[in-house]
Amino acid sequence: MGSDFPVEDSLFDSLLPEYYQKVSSIHWTPIQANRQLAEFFSNCDENSKFLDIGSGCGKLCIILLLLTKMNIYGIEQRREFFKIAEKIETINDLQNVHFIRGNRLDLDWSGYDIYYLHNLFRAHIASFGDMRIDGRIDFDQKYYVQYTAQVYRQLCWAKPDKKLITFHGYGGSIPGNWRLTQSRIIGYSNFSMWENSE
Ligand SMILES: C[S@@+](CC[C@H](N)C(=O)[O-])C[C@H]1O[C@@H](n2cnc3c(N)ncnc32)[C@H](O)[C@@H]1O
Repeated sequence: MGSDFPVEDSLFDSLLPEYYQKVSSIHWTPIQANRQLAEFFSNCDENSKFLDIGSGCGKLCIILLLLTKMNIYGIEQRREFFKIAEKIETINDLQNVHFIRGNRLDLDWSGYDIYYLHNLFRAHIASFGDMRIDGRIDFDQKYYVQYTAQVYRQLCWAKPDKKLITFHGYGGSIPGNWRLTQSRIIGYSNFSMWENSE
């Protein structure tokens, strides 16, 4: 289904406030990557729970909902992004997409089957403005160290059969219990799928 999905990035982005349209190519996953996800998970039904960890304005979650049968969840720390995502969900009466407002540190990942990580901590070590969507959170290298270490631990403890997608990585390494099953370049970075093989 993914390959013949007619929606382009500019069409989805037009639903967002103007500033977030402008930063879309840097901060939101392009629809090309969603098409890839739809191929990876074409056999999954609503019993599969996909979790976008740092879901921004909900672009990835909503496009993936249209392309697959999975239940899609997004957790986002910024209230404004969470509200934009919820608004698009409500106006379009979308089912099977669920937005959670919060810090990923506080969420138990064990109830989800597929984890998606898109370079969400880089802003804490970025030396240039483009990598920071806005100034609404407290940026500090200590958060980068803390968050990447916690993701690493969560991946170490993950139960077997979980899947992980990384886009631009997450800032740390992938523990040895995960096996790389597919990888390709999308845009200018690696889009990779991993399976917990233990
Ligand atoms: C690069 S954007 C990716 C957005 C979306 N996942 C996508 O791929 O289109 C990273 C998002 O992660 C969010 N984020 C960063 N750290 C977070 C944390 N600790 N808890 C929840 N969200 C976080 C940011 O606010 C931002 O919206």
